[in-house]
Amino acid sequence: MNNILKYAVIGVGSMGNNHARILSDMPGVDLVAVVDANGQRAKQIARRYNTRAYTTSEALFEQEKLDIVNICVPTVKHHKIALQAAGHGVNFLVEKPIAISIEQGQEIVNAAKEANIIMTVGHVERFNPAVIELHKRVEAGELGQVFQIQAHRASPFPAHVLDVGVVTDLAVHDLDVMRYITQSEVQRVYAETAQRIHTSHEDQLIGILRFEAGMIGKLTVNWLTPTKIRQLSVLGERGKFIVNYLTQELTFYENGATESSDWLGVLQGIKPGRMIGYVIHRQEPLRAELESFIQAVRDGTTPVVTGHDGIQALALAEAVIQAGQSHQTVTM
Ligand SMILES: NC(=O)c1ccc[n+]([C@@H]2O[C@H](COP(=O)([O-])OP(=O)(O)OC[C@H]3O[C@@H](n4cnc5c(N)ncnc54)[C@H](O)[C@@H]3O)[C@@H](O)[C@H]2O)c1
Repeated sequence: MNNILKYAVIGVGSMGNNHARILSDMPGVDLVAVVDANGQRAKQIARRYNTRAYTTSEALFEQEKLDIVNICVPTVKHHKIALQAAGHGVNFLVEKPIAISIEQGQEIVNAAKEANIIMTVGHVERFNPAVIELHKRVEAGELGQVFQIQAHRASPFPAHVLDVGVVTDLAVHDLDVMRYITQSEVQRVYAETAQRIHTSHEDQLIGILRFEAGMIGKLTVNWLTPTKIRQLSVLGERGKFIVNYLTQELTFYENGATESSDWLGVLQGIKPGRMIGYVIHRQEPLRAELESFIQAVRDGTTPVVTGHDGIQALALAEAVIQAGQSHQTVTM
């Protein structure tokens, strides 16, 4: 592989523009082209980042010799373009969720495997420094036994997201992060969903999860809140961690009853202890995600987020939607 990687971004709407911005000034990378079905948009972004514009992915793959593409088109179109990339032997990052169905997601993963290329899914919250710090501390046993994990993700309605609902678009982030933090698969889910503004899909979710490792989880996700909330909390024997994804802050509320090194502290009761705000080195998660993927491509190693992770997160999203529609618990 050449030292300078030839890169393109397909779909330069709100997310793809961020990919192009970061790649345009990244060392070791040459952003050779951007693609957008909207010709005006393609030209505008190409001009902004001093690169070439195409209006179809077919033309891109015919005319450019590429090492990596990032696929940032609407979710319903991930499958077609990911298969094209694999067909041309080009490594790719496909934005989250991997696809609109598990079958399509599996075909994407299989195509990458057959083409012997490296692919990842844009579960960018894995690269939020506060989430990484939380993962490290939970894994090191700082909470003792983990009891509960809760995610709250809410924001105003994004009028341009027409192809999927809030579960597939937003809750999929939390489902992935919950698997990552608990290191456990989900056993069963129950959910209530509702549709108030979106014309074809749910825009509200309250979901309940049971993990194989015994924890319970809750998801509160909607597109009906006038302010943006991105929060995760993990409760365990020794206290509670809270992550604010937006400010990249990690706070620990200690269970004062477990101040001693006695790991059975919970048997002694629960009482307020210290509140600790950890110092986190802030970083743009998308930049960290792209750097990590590029390194995996250069080294030929497994990326942090695998195709399997993308499919598991989507399978959970589908189970949540099914539970919301059927009013039945769904066993994974
Ligand atoms: N990781 C994250 O946090 C995050 C955040 C936002 C969006 N996303 C994901 O990124 C994807 C795009 O979302 P968005 O909000 O940027 O949407 P968007 O509508 O703003 O942008 C999509 C762009 O793709 C273009 N497009 C459509 N079909 C195309 C095709 N066949 N070829 C080339 N261009 C095409 C559109 O013209 C548009 O400019 C979705 O899968 C979404 O879930 C991820």
